[in-house]
Amino acid sequence: MHLHRYEKIWLSFGIFMLLGFMGIVGYQTFAMGMGPPSHKETIDPQKVETTAPFDEPGVKQIGDNEYEVVMILQAFGFTPGNIEVPVGAKVNFTMTSKDVIHGFQVADTNINTMVVPGHIQKISHTFNEPGEYLVICNEYCGAGHQAMATRIIVK
Ligand code: CUA
Repeated sequence: MHLHRYEKIWLSFGIFMLLGFMGIVGYQTFAMGMGPPSHKETIDPQKVETTAPFDEPGVKQIGDNEYEVVMILQAFGFTPGNIEVPVGAKVNFTMTSKDVIHGFQVADTNINTMVVPGHIQKISHTFNEPGEYLVICNEYCGAGHQAMATRIIVK
């Protein structure tokens, strides 16, 4: 097979770049420990309701100005829904899904995460503006996906 000189140069360049990027990512992951966490906190999705903390979903005060929200996502809702948290408090969400992959996106904030069955998802946020925040599922999860929404009331 004959390859044109430019083609050889371009192929070599592509392979060189590929190996270079893989080397950088590999070095960051394995030598510097910068890989994303995986399988850190797992849960049996069939036993969500009997596994702590999901056996008691809700809003709990855990510090002076800190709250934990334990929330279960399932087709097509959030348990609990329409939660209330005080303005300016740090809110730690602990979430899991009972069935399929759902999304947890809170409008007007940078909260936007996937909630995967079998895994526990954690995300923290401080709501500095009072108001009603729309929460939507942004991962297609079935026929009722577009209706899967709730609110966070901050006051
Ligand atoms: Cu849950 Cu889309």
